Amino acid sequence: MARALGRVFLRHMSQASFPPTTLTRMTPAAATAVATGRRTRGYQDFPDAPRVLITGSLGQLGTGLAKLMRERYGRENVIMSDINKPPRHVLENGPFLFADVLDQRGLREIVVNYEIDWLIHFSALLSAIGEQNVPLAMQVNIEGVHNVLEVSKTFGLKLFIPSTIGAFGPDSPRNPTPDMTIQRPRTIYGVSKVHAELMGEYYNHRFGLDFRSLRYPGVISADTMPGGGTTDYALMIFHDALTTKQHVCYLRPDTRLPMMYVDDTLRATVDFMEASPDQLTMRTYNVTAMSFTPEELAAEVRKYVPDLEVIYQPDHRQNIADQWPMVFDDTNARSDWGWQHRFDLPLMCETMMKALLPKYSEAAIDMLKE
Ligand SMILES: NC(=O)c1ccc[n+]([C@@H]2O[C@H](COP(=O)([O-])OP(=O)(O)OC[C@H]3O[C@@H](n4cnc5c(N)ncnc54)[C@H](O)[C@@H]3O)[C@@H](O)[C@H]2O)c1
Repeated sequence: MARALGRVFLRHMSQASFPPTTLTRMTPAAATAVATGRRTRGYQDFPDAPRVLITGSLGQLGTGLAKLMRERYGRENVIMSDINKPPRHVLENGPFLFADVLDQRGLREIVVNYEIDWLIHFSALLSAIGEQNVPLAMQVNIEGVHNVLEVSKTFGLKLFIPSTIGAFGPDSPRNPTPDMTIQRPRTIYGVSKVHAELMGEYYNHRFGLDFRSLRYPGVISADTMPGGGTTDYALMIFHDALTTKQHVCYLRPDTRLPMMYVDDTLRATVDFMEASPDQLTMRTYNVTAMSFTPEELAAEVRKYVPDLEVIYQPDHRQNIADQWPMVFDDTNARSDWGWQHRFDLPLMCETMMKALLPKYSEAAIDMLKE
């Protein structure tokens, strides 16, 4: 009941214009706690924690990052947001708001009303989806970045915008690809991410904005589905192996790409955000954990599902993958702020299988019961 009331209050507060009372200096959750005499874990037990807003948090990475950050900074200090309707478990696990990154005024309102310190800007249209709707990709990936830069500059926020292996192109060295090299991407996704890197670094030099960016490789996760990127096959092969035992791969068997298990991606993000500015010699770093091809991944998955069949039918995504790094050089991240991956290919596969197998077994048992 208290939780339901809290939710209603939070939604109401997110839409309201606040009078200048003490309530405006608290998150709505904290204000609820004061009004009801209840202690909130987020507001009182983590007094020095940053207050974080995550945009586009209903995608592949946002829910996991919110969970990790809530463990470290307190549940009420990490606010998820998106333009989509959240599933019930998201509403039950902490604050969630509607936030369209194309609405700069709306973002300002949230930052002020919720005393935001850090902005994690996850909203984006990914590589394959971006090519299907270039005008929308330009809006979300470029205008959206302009909006978060301006809001972050105005309110002195620490701003994180992830970049990608897709920020490199056919003229970049591909094996390995260092941090500083030619970047001439040929997808709207890649172009918009280079734009974000350069604009963030410009705002850092010009206005002192604490802008930070990691170039993520393809991210593999068991809890969430991929968002339309070129590395999605590396996640879908697990689901196919555990259902039809047949995977149609849209890349050639020898297409090598850098990859990372999601736990490493999220930990890298938090470690990087917590790094002190004097540890950073750059504002945009490559990070990676492993590089593999579809046939190498299939061989590893067959250790668990020996009769997995993989059919290779390269499509338009092959052209994108052929322009991307094969092996990422992340030595600067490792030496500057201590980045270390934990998951290699065998451990990633074992972890994915352990996470997905029970889900599919439960689904199969449910079907048999019906
Ligand atoms: N997942 C990966 O493999 C990967 C790799 C490299 C970089 N990245 C970057 O990490 C970030 C998060 O990636 P992801 O995989 O979670 O993405 P995703 O595509 O799964 O999620 C993106 C989210 O942005 C939201 N969004 C779209 N338009 C919006 C708008 N106008 N306002 C607010 N939200 C909007 C969508 O509703 C969606 O929930 C992105 O910036 C992406 O470029 C991801």
